[in-house]
Amino acid sequence: MIQVDDIRKSYGNLEVLKGISLSVGRAEVLCLMGASGAGKSTLLHIMGTLDVPDSGRVLMDGEDLFAMNAKRLAAFRNRHIGFIFQFHHLLPEFTALENICLPAWIAGRPRREAEKEAMGLLEMFRLTERAQHKPHELSGGEQQRIAVARALINHPSVVLADEPSGNLDTENARELHQLFLKLRDQLQQTFVIVTHNPDLSEMADRTLYMEDGLLKS
Ligand SMILES: Nc1ncnc2c1ncn2[C@@H]1O[C@H](COP(=O)(O)OP(=O)(O)OP(=O)(O)O)[C@@H](O)[C@H]1O
Ligand SMILES: [Mg+2]
Repeated sequence: MIQVDDIRKSYGNLEVLKGISLSVGRAEVLCLMGASGAGKSTLLHIMGTLDVPDSGRVLMDGEDLFAMNAKRLAAFRNRHIGFIFQFHHLLPEFTALENICLPAWIAGRPRREAEKEAMGLLEMFRLTERAQHKPHELSGGEQQRIAVARALINHPSVVLADEPSGNLDTENARELHQLFLKLRDQLQQTFVIVTHNPDLSEMADRTLYMEDGLLKS
């Protein structure tokens, strides 16, 4: 599903990624671990086309991401890649339901269809009662589950998550991790998750360790 070929990236004199290659299969939960500054977020951002490598390729669903022009790439990202960040990045003025629907509306999907699907996700995540709440009226765990629903609304090929449970207590973190596994099992959803959490890494299908800009074997 995803193939990363010899990705290199420097910021000025700082060589952050020194030739990273990996592949991710469908319905796989892949964890990326490593010390702070190892380059995990940089790699995840490149896989999500939020940053551009100096050299190397990323293929997703057979498409060479960095060979596309900006407009096609933006459309591809909206349709094929879901993002979850450490801090949920929900829009404060919008309700939970609207936040989930936004990527679908951006994709031009009909309002009703998007809302129906968002309600289905809220139900799956046991958040139906929270549909009309604004983010500040939700707990940290609830906010993060809304962010997961938003990442899923367009049926992405992959969900890329950067320390998704980094800001949650143990209980909420565990619930979020269980949700990832449920989505893998029920929807064959693929995940690449940067984490410092050993519990999550243990539950994952595979964990890769980054050190000094390279994957450790
Ligand atoms: N836009 C940037 N400009 C300059 N340097 C950067 C930039 N982004 C990241 N870096 C540097 O690249 C290195 C890798 O950063 P990155 O964010 O990928 O690390 P990380 O593995 O995600 O760390 P953490 O676990 O702390 O989140 C760091 O030394 C960082 O300071
Ligand atoms: Mg990081």
